[in-house]
Order: sequence, then C-alpha cells, then structure tokens
Amino acid sequence: RPHLSMHALDGLTLEDVPLNAIADAVGTPTWVMGAGTLRARYRLLDGAMRGAGLAPSIHFAVKANDHLAVLRILAAEGAGADVVSGGELRRARAAGVPAGRIVFSGVGKTREEMALALAEGIGHIAVESAEELDILSDVAASSGWVAPITLRVNPDVDAGTHEKITTGLSTNKFGIAYARAAALYERSASLPGLKPLGFSVHIGSQIVAMAPYRAAFARVADLVRAVRARGLPVSLVDCGGGLGITYRDEVEGAPEALAGAIRAELGDLDVRLAIEPGRWLAGSAGLLLSRVILRKAGEDGLPSFLILDAAMNDLMRPSLYEAWHGILPVSARDATRPVEAVNVVGPVCESADSFADGRFLPRLDEGARVALLDTGAYGAVMSSTYNGRPLAAQVLVDGGRWSVIRERQPVESLWAADRIPDWVMPAPA
Ligand code: LLP
Repeated sequence: RPHLSMHALDGLTLEDVPLNAIADAVGTPTWVMGAGTLRARYRLLDGAMRGAGLAPSIHFAVKANDHLAVLRILAAEGAGADVVSGGELRRARAAGVPAGRIVFSGVGKTREEMALALAEGIGHIAVESAEELDILSDVAASSGWVAPITLRVNPDVDAGTHEKITTGLSTNKFGIAYARAAALYERSASLPGLKPLGFSVHIGSQIVAMAPYRAAFARVADLVRAVRARGLPVSLVDCGGGLGITYRDEVEGAPEALAGAIRAELGDLDVRLAIEPGRWLAGSAGLLLSRVILRKAGEDGLPSFLILDAAMNDLMRPSLYEAWHGILPVSARDATRPVEAVNVVGPVCESADSFADGRFLPRLDEGARVALLDTGAYGAVMSSTYNGRPLAAQVLVDGGRWSVIRERQPVESLWAADRIPDWVMPAPA
C-alpha cells in the first residue's frame, strides 16, 4: 500500500499526512480518504484500457462512495457516474458530473426517478425488466422525451464472489434473462419514447478472476451479433463494474486483465464501450481511523476483546459479508509491542458487531489508535446511526494537506426530524 507508511515520530501516515494529527483535531471514528490515491487509481485503470486500444467511458459507481469531493475529483479526471437512484443522480449532478456522463441502473426505478433522469439528459438508462421497459416508454413518450437505453442482461454466470454481492445468476433479481434479451431489444425498438443503444452487464462485485468476465462478455457479444442479424443497430456495450481489490491476500483484479477480457470478447464489435467501477477506484484510497475504548480481558485462554469506538454502524462490511479488513496501529510505539490474538469489536449491542476474530495485533490498550484499511468503497456510504451513534466525520488528504469534508454529525440531528404528536402524553415532570 504505497500511500501508507509508518514513521518513528509521526506514526502511520496516509499520503504523508500523520493520522495522529487528524485524530487529535477531529477525534475518532473518522473516515480518511486519499485524493492522490484516488487519482492514481483512476489513471491506472484508464491507462490500462488505453494500453489495450480501448477507450471506454468510465462511470464511477456512486454507491461505493458518494461524497461530493470524491465525485468531483474523479469527474476532473474524466470520469462519469453510475447511479442507482434519483438521490445518487442528484448527488452526482451536485458534484458537477455532466448529465450526459451519468448512467442509471437499478431494478426498481420509480416513474419520478425516470422522469428526473430524462429531464436532466442522462447518458443512458439500463433497463432491468420487460415491465420496466413499458413503464419507461410511457414516462418518456408522455413527456415527449426519447430515453437512451441499454438492456441489462443477466448472463447467468457465477462471478465466484460472496453470495451477497453476486448479481449475474438467474436466481438473482438483477437484469433480463439472457434467453429473452434479443426479443425484448427488438420490442424496445418498436416502443415509443425509447432509443435502444445496446446492452449492459454486471455480474457481481469483488471479482478477481477473469473467467467469469470473459464468459459474461462472450454471451453479450453473441447477443449483439444476434440482434444485428435481425437488422437492429447496436452502438454501446456497458461492461459494468466488479473488479476486486486486495483486502487480505487476494490477488487484486488487474485492470490490464479486465481490458484484455473486454478486448478479446467485445473488441471487434465496433461499439462504444463503458465500464462502471466502484471498489477498484475508491476502496484502497480510504481508511477508518478509530480508537480503543478498552481492552476487555478474555476468559481463561480465550482472546481478549479490543473494543473500538468504531462499530458495525460505521463499517458494516465485516458484519454483513464476513469481510476482512486490515487493521494497523497508528503509533509507531504501539506497532512494536508483543503480538497477541484479539477479537476486534465495536460497542454496538449486537454480537454481529465484530471487525475481526482472533486477529494478531500488537498489544493495544485504552486510547490506542488504529486504522481499518481499504474502507474507501462501501464504507461511509453504508453507515447508519444505529444505537444513537452519529455518522462519523470524513477527512480528505491530498499532497500533504488535509481538510474535513464532512463534519461529524451533531447528536441532536439524530432526533431533529422526530415529531411528538399533541396527543402523546406530556413529558413526565
Ligand atoms: N454497476 C452495477 C450495476 C452495480 O450493481 C455495481 C455494484 C457496480 C457497478 C459497482 O461494482 P464494484 O466495481 O464496486 O464492484 N456493498 C458490497 C458491494 C455491493 C456492490 C453492488 N453493486 C460490498 O461492500 O462488498
């Protein structure tokens, strides 16, 4: 992790900014995002595509990290956005992403969201069912708009990833069954208010092997040839996201390998290409800074509990997917203490509120700071305020400087929208 280093005096730094300085000023838990790392990742991905003779439009998956500054940094590099709700669409626009560079997917878009997307001038909408096709046609035609669309195909390919983040199997709710896609594409060309451009495919997330990608792209290529043989134009294939990163010892999905897979299967189709990466761009650029509240001794022979001030409401991935995140001490002195196996947990009242079981870490006591690594994607965005815990602060570091990019949520705002009806009893005296 080239953006992280340990210094004798300053302790752990992200892009040369000492994490201790951030924690001293802003407290913990705090998300820290590295702008330089984010840009470097974008350039690596873009460069790999260009190196393979491809120039896909790159739409950052806003669901991975929706912070305006993150979207702005990527937009300045040339990225568009992949959104899955009217809220994400408006966020991307607020960050300055041009509407034409935004694509909209999702199995349940409301009529209002469709109308918003069309009024903004969206790049394309990925339609995920026959039913949605009819509704979109109705929404577009009734306002005199023409909706640029792709059909999202479910290729029935196993991405070989965690079951909760696989999307390309026919048992998943996503996309149009492969066998029905050609006929539906033909139908979409005859419906008012629709301009079918091509197909989208997204088989899942945290994919590190190329075989599932190759299989999915090959099926899409067959589909393109089949509908062209029926005389229908196809000008766009959106290859989705899903490229995985190294959390523990997985070999990161290489952008060159993804580019190779796209080129091999789709390279000779003469279509415009798009991709929708989220995790690969943002994941390793962020970390979650936290503090040990206390170290609770384990029962005889059992590991102690290291209870952090961050919890499952902040970083949900370990609880939800048994995800593994690296944990590093922030102070150089802590890093040299004898190693022990500990259960790293949060203070939330759920047994699932656990970051790591039996993790080997140097002995850490009350007040020690730690960094939970690779939380730049699907970290802060998935937070809740469960157990009365305000959303954590967010900080951006860049070229040695840093700024708070989201204030820690004031605790009063947790109930600011609550209303007590008149007919509820007055507060006890
Ligand atoms: N495009 C579509 C249509 C998607 O559904 C997704 C992610 C992406 C692109 C971006 O995928 P990525 O490149 O980030 O893998 N919360 C889970 C991940 C859920 C991914 C959902 N869809 C996690 O923390 O692992």
